[in-house]
Amino acid sequence: GLPTRVRIHEVGARDGLQNEKSTVPTAVKAEFVHRLAEAGLTTIEATSFVHPKWVPQLADAEQLFPLLSGLPVELPVLVPNERGLDRALALGARRVAVFASATESFAKANLNRTVDESLAMFHPVVERAKAGGVHVRGYLSMCFGDPWEGAVPVPQVVRVCRALIDMGCDELSLGDTIGVATPGHVEELLTALGEEGIPVSALGVHFHDTYGQALANTLAALRHGVTTVDASAGGLGGCPFAKSATGNLATEDLVWMLTGLGIDTGVDLGRLVATSVWMAGRLGRPSPSRTVRALSHE
Ligand code: HMG
Ligand code: MG
Repeated sequence: GLPTRVRIHEVGARDGLQNEKSTVPTAVKAEFVHRLAEAGLTTIEATSFVHPKWVPQLADAEQLFPLLSGLPVELPVLVPNERGLDRALALGARRVAVFASATESFAKANLNRTVDESLAMFHPVVERAKAGGVHVRGYLSMCFGDPWEGAVPVPQVVRVCRALIDMGCDELSLGDTIGVATPGHVEELLTALGEEGIPVSALGVHFHDTYGQALANTLAALRHGVTTVDASAGGLGGCPFAKSATGNLATEDLVWMLTGLGIDTGVDLGRLVATSVWMAGRLGRPSPSRTVRALSHE
C-alpha cells in the first residue's frame, strides 16, 4: 500500500543554492523561503552553518536565518560540528542536521575526516542538541553509489545508519548524492534497515535526479512505508564536493506524482511553480523540472 500523507522536506534553499556558481543575495534567499512557505511547504531547510570557505554560497547564514524567524514552518539547518551548532543555537534554531557519509572518499572530500572521525565529530553535536530539545536529522550521503568508489555495499550503509541512530538522531535521510540509485537497490537498502531494527518512520529519502530515477526511487520508498521525502523546488541542487551530483528530485515533480496517487501534501502546485520560475529568473537559467516546464509554458 501507499501512505495517505507525505511530509516533504524542502531542500532548495540549502542543497539547491549551495551549488550555484554565483552567490545569491541574502534578500533573494529570504524571499525564496517565504514563497516556499506560502506555497504550503512546512519543512524548509534554510541554510548551513558550515565553514564559509568550504561553502561560500551559504556564508550569509547569520544574516539569512533571522529574516525567516516569523515563518510558521520548521527551518532545519546543517551543522557539521560544535562550532556550527553554536552558531545555529545562537540564532534560535530548533532543528539541526548532521551529515555523514557511507564512504571514506566522500567523508574526506566533504568533511576532511574519515567516516569514524566524522561520527566522533557529530557525537557531541547530537548530544548537546538533544539535551536542548532540538530535533536532529542525520543525513547519510553515498548510500547507493560513490563517484570514487562505485557501488556502495548495503552493509556499509547500514553500519553508519546504526551509528547515527545510536547517537540519538531523530530521523535519517538516505542520500543518493549522485543520483545513481534504481528502485530495486532502494528496496534492498530499506529491507536491510528494517532487518537491522531501524523503524521506517525514522527514515527519509533524498534522491538526486541525475539519471532520471528519482521519482521511481521515491515510489519504491513509499511502497516500503517511507513518508518523509526530500525534494528541491525547481530541481535545484547538487553537491560541490561530489563530482557528477546534479539537482535533487524537483518538488513540483514529486507533488505532481503524489497528487495523482491521491496522497495529500498540502502544497499549492501553482504557487510553487511560480516560485521556481521566479527563482530560475534570478539564477539566469530555466528550471530542469519537467513539471515546472509543463505548467509554466516556457
Ligand atoms: P576543517 O578544515 O577540517 O575544519 O573543515 P577544522 O575543524 O580543522 O577547523 C578549521 C577552522 O575552521 C577553525 O578556525 C574553525 O573554527 C573553523 P581557525 O581556528 O583555524 O580560525 N570552523 C568553522 N567556522 C565556521 N563554522 C563552522 C566551522 N567549523 C570549523 N561550522 C568542516 C571541517 C566540517 C568545518 C568543513 O569540512 C566543512 O565546513 N564542510 C562542509 C561541507 C558541506 O557543507 N557540504 C555540503 C553539504 S552535504 C550535502 O550536500 C549532501 C546532502 O545533501 C545529502 C546528499 O545529497 O547525499 C546533505
Ligand atoms: Mg543532497
